[in-house]
Amino acid sequence: MSEAITSVLEENRSFEPPAGHQGYIPSLAAYEALKARFSDDFDGTWGDLAGQHLLWREPFTRVLNREKAPFFHWFEGGMLNVSENCLDRHVAAGLGKRTAIVWEGEAGQVRRISYTELLADVCRAANAMRELGIKAGDRVVIYMPMIPEAAVAMLACSRIGAIHSVVFGAFSSLALRDRIEDAGARLVITADGGSRRGAVYALKPNVDEALSEGCHTVRHVLLVRHGGNEVPTVPGRDIDWHQALNVQPAECEPLAVESEHPLFILYTSGSTGKPKGILHTTAGYLLWSRLTMCWSFDFNPAEDLFWCTADIGWITGHTYSVYGPLCCGGTTLMYEGVPTWPDAGRIWKICEDHAVSIFYTAPTAIRALIKAGDEWPAKYDLSSLRVLGTVGEPINPEAWMWYYRVIGKEKLPIVDTWWQTETGGHMIAPLPFATPTKPGSATLPLPGIDAAVVDEFGHTVIGDGGLLVLRQPWPSMLRGIWGDEKRYVDTYWRKFGSRYYFAGDGARIDEDGYFWIMGRVDDVLNVSGHRLGTMEIESALVSHHQVAEAAVVGRPDELKGEGICAFVVLKGEFTEGLAAALRAHVVSQIGAIARPDDIRFANSLPKTRSGKIMRRLLRDIAAGREITDDISTLEDQTVIEQLQQRV
Ligand code: WTA
Repeated sequence: MSEAITSVLEENRSFEPPAGHQGYIPSLAAYEALKARFSDDFDGTWGDLAGQHLLWREPFTRVLNREKAPFFHWFEGGMLNVSENCLDRHVAAGLGKRTAIVWEGEAGQVRRISYTELLADVCRAANAMRELGIKAGDRVVIYMPMIPEAAVAMLACSRIGAIHSVVFGAFSSLALRDRIEDAGARLVITADGGSRRGAVYALKPNVDEALSEGCHTVRHVLLVRHGGNEVPTVPGRDIDWHQALNVQPAECEPLAVESEHPLFILYTSGSTGKPKGILHTTAGYLLWSRLTMCWSFDFNPAEDLFWCTADIGWITGHTYSVYGPLCCGGTTLMYEGVPTWPDAGRIWKICEDHAVSIFYTAPTAIRALIKAGDEWPAKYDLSSLRVLGTVGEPINPEAWMWYYRVIGKEKLPIVDTWWQTETGGHMIAPLPFATPTKPGSATLPLPGIDAAVVDEFGHTVIGDGGLLVLRQPWPSMLRGIWGDEKRYVDTYWRKFGSRYYFAGDGARIDEDGYFWIMGRVDDVLNVSGHRLGTMEIESALVSHHQVAEAAVVGRPDELKGEGICAFVVLKGEFTEGLAAALRAHVVSQIGAIARPDDIRFANSLPKTRSGKIMRRLLRDIAAGREITDDISTLEDQTVIEQLQQRV
């Protein structure tokens, strides 16, 4: 962090929002007016919005309790239920026939699930879970492909007050075991397998493997038959999802819970080895899911078809594939499969076939689509699109321009949204029909969000790079790290005390007040929009019997944003095929997303006199850049040459 944060990006282009459509927030003046309302009466404005946008069983009596900061309590005294807000209230409003979820499988199968049907499924699943002994506050791990049953499982948990923890389906059995154990889950919901590149991959065996050791809290596994692949089952423990649901009534009274009742835990990477379980609660999270759908996407539930390409294993999938669109009563599209299967036109074919109107994806996907060539989007009718979003990593201006020109035909707003697992929803993003955009900038903080860029001492910095902070709490903020209060305080609220939330990103504010996010300032990598801790990968490497020490750094990668480079010191001699074996080992420990792109070996790692690994030096070596560090104090100078060699 002592390294200066500098930005080399010079970007002067600016684009006016499209004219001729009245957006949810229609103008910059309306944005300013809403911001002013927050400045005048922060609590009152949040309270008004929560009252208008959510269905309450009991009204809240206090908007924000800061007494135990940084443990903030929102909407105290209020009682509500998330699934009731996402389903029952729309059915009660006569929208039962509206499609809630459109699902497309990789082979082209399509399912449309109406609000009435989704409500019935969620009730059946909730009843089935209750029959398995799941009560409010119990943890349920969901390890599934992108299928509607995953959303049903999430909503069913919320219906009975159970806490879900979705684990991305590409995580290995060991990563799954860690998360099950940390959460103390009672139930795992999974599927036999899913589709990928025209074949079925098995998922359930990973659950068996995970449960083969430890995981003593797990009583049952609910198994969705989806892939059609044969999988072993454990009698008494494993229960067929469809059979269990079929015998249940399609009604289940939603359990009203307190505003701060935990809704879910989602594990994400930090700068230490162990992933942290980010805790989100009920009312604040749901409110912000819904508001940001309206504000950042101009979502119109009666007309739009919203497609967020993120897997539900990530926060983006939670907030913008499931809770956001459903809380608004709109239609969300889920696609199970590889976006470039059977060819690079698949995404655009889906947009045409279903008349997608709001499309939300990651820069890494955009870069892959650019590489595939402009002829692919040219084959399809993309005229239904009206808003284009991006999330997950800084978008390079050229990728932004391609999105704007080739997909948006220079008519659609590009909504670059900065946020994190911890923030629950968008923090900095343009309002599509109000905010002028600049390629590569997430533009301005949303109303109610007090973002700033500060130096090490917390003083505001304008023009230069600094640390991104949030100076006021917000409703969808994380409420803690599961089982580790101290780590929550240390990670986010130590640097600037409980005054400012420390996001871990570097950023710059330009003369127009626009935010330019420059990437992580901690030991977190962003590989294809996925967050990975360098320590996590290092621990995986060191758990291999031939590895004595390892250091992992990121290096620029044209497609993935960041690639993974590992520097390894061996216990014994180098053996043939070791690099491949270490890659495979990391995959088995964490999952394929953590596979190192490059592994280099040396007798030792370069360290400072105080014994700290010289990471900046390693980053320069990994990127093939000139070395700027002073290396004269290194005991073994030949180490640098060794590390510069590719295997
Ligand atoms: C990065 C994903 C630049 C950032 C929602 C953040 C971004 C981390 C953007 C969170 C963006 C996300 N521009 N960087 N629009 N969006 N990031 O928790 O470094 O998976 O801290 O949440 O992704 O990743 P996470």
